[in-house]
Amino acid sequence: MRVTFARPILNRLGAYVVFVTDGGKMSESANQLNKATKGSLKRALESSRFNGAEGQTLVVLGPEGVSAKQILLLGIGEPDKVGTLVAQSLGGAIYRVLSDSGLKSSSVLVDNIPGVKISNAEFAANIAYGCHLRSYRFDKYKTQEKSKDSPSLNSLAVMLKDVKGARRKFVPLQSVVDGVFFTRDLVSEPANVIYPISFVARLRSLTKLGVKIQVLDEKKMKKLGMGALLGVAQGSANAPRLVAMQWSGAPKSKETRPIAFVGKGVTFDTGGISIKPAGGMEDMKWDMGGAGVVSGVMHAMASRKAKVNAVGILGLVENMPSSKAQRPGDVVKTMSGQTIEVINTDAEGRLVLADALWWCQKRFNPHTVIDLATLTGAIIVSLGYHHAGMFSNNDKLADQLLVAGKATGEKLWRMPLGKAYDKQVRSQIADMKNVGGRDAGSITAAQILQRFIQEGVAWAHLDIAGVTWSKTDSATAPKGGTGFGVRLLDRLVTDQYESR
Ligand code: BES
Ligand code: ZN
Ligand code: ZN
Repeated sequence: MRVTFARPILNRLGAYVVFVTDGGKMSESANQLNKATKGSLKRALESSRFNGAEGQTLVVLGPEGVSAKQILLLGIGEPDKVGTLVAQSLGGAIYRVLSDSGLKSSSVLVDNIPGVKISNAEFAANIAYGCHLRSYRFDKYKTQEKSKDSPSLNSLAVMLKDVKGARRKFVPLQSVVDGVFFTRDLVSEPANVIYPISFVARLRSLTKLGVKIQVLDEKKMKKLGMGALLGVAQGSANAPRLVAMQWSGAPKSKETRPIAFVGKGVTFDTGGISIKPAGGMEDMKWDMGGAGVVSGVMHAMASRKAKVNAVGILGLVENMPSSKAQRPGDVVKTMSGQTIEVINTDAEGRLVLADALWWCQKRFNPHTVIDLATLTGAIIVSLGYHHAGMFSNNDKLADQLLVAGKATGEKLWRMPLGKAYDKQVRSQIADMKNVGGRDAGSITAAQILQRFIQEGVAWAHLDIAGVTWSKTDSATAPKGGTGFGVRLLDRLVTDQYESR
């Protein structure tokens, strides 16, 4: 998708998009086009249910009197409710309606609408952003698709007077789009293509952006005593990797301790010897979603040259059953020295993160650690598909994350932690067991992670099992990998760590 910004002109081919507010009031550009088309738009409005409610669309085909082949009336709802998120959804709606219209290009006339609280430049940039995000496709393995069945729309001209302002606002958003697409690509790939070593190979593009990458292989991890991560990996023919990506963008005079993002990167989760049922197991190709998001947010920050020091850690393993696989009942020793009794080999994410989190803190001394993991099915029972679960030892960090979630539409819901839950993972023979029973499954998982967080480190754990993959289209994402977390964390960094 090519997005450009230009001053308004009315002689383009393709489609024109114009705004209508709640109650059917046409924008200035809509009125102009209405005149040029001898009242076609007004008649279309009067002959349908369309009334300008947010997200409503009405396409006028082959209008007379203008060069445009189609005019899309786009409802923007009540002007005072139009913010950046609404603008992004509107951009997504434009793509949804026009992508298979048969037209290659479209121009949206971003008029100044009285009552809209964001600047015209911001409105325009966010329409472009939403349209771009919605245009994602993962079609590399479709070899027989006819061109008539694939999207025709490949360029969007966003028209407004303040072209410069809109371009300036769009620059960082383009970086975020690239980061989100990087994540969606990783998450969408099947597990015969993305496994730990090939995942690492994909990260080379980050080096070009100035990200430093360190990779630990099995030998090094053994030396460091990462028995929990290695225990998960030992059943697979695909060797594990632990990755550190470093972005150092903070001015030299500022704080040097980094913020750290840690991702669960189980490139396929069969469950191991505690094997999962066959139905739906293919979904477990995206059990590396946390690692995908961490990679994407590093991509976004490096690409927009964020003024922050950040590290991204990925625990990359494949969880397979085999004669070499770990067994239920095995006891593993983590790098921290704590031992874990592995009751269920399908509760592997926490084992991987135990060592990844510990190494991250020892190696980089971060002030803040945020981990992301498709950790539990239980979080889907709790929150469904519309909030990720958040657990934190720090109210300030938790609040900042909640704010970033609301601002980006990647919403979080804070869940509790506490001693009573921690008791559920006591083991008879080791320091802990890796499952705490059926009750409060997401919380007991988080309790285990917290045992690997050092004193004084602000920590949040995001359980993204319900939001990493979507079975339905949303305003700004086609069904499939969502990239949930990239926008959220990029926003957190922008608002909390770059300005200080
Ligand atoms: N990767 C799964 C969690 C998951 C489930 C992610 C559904 C996405 C969608 C995780 O490794 C797992 O299997 N967790 C178990 C834990 C249980 C054995 C304590 C679960 O949630 O059932
Ligand atoms: Zn599992
Ligand atoms: Zn898993």
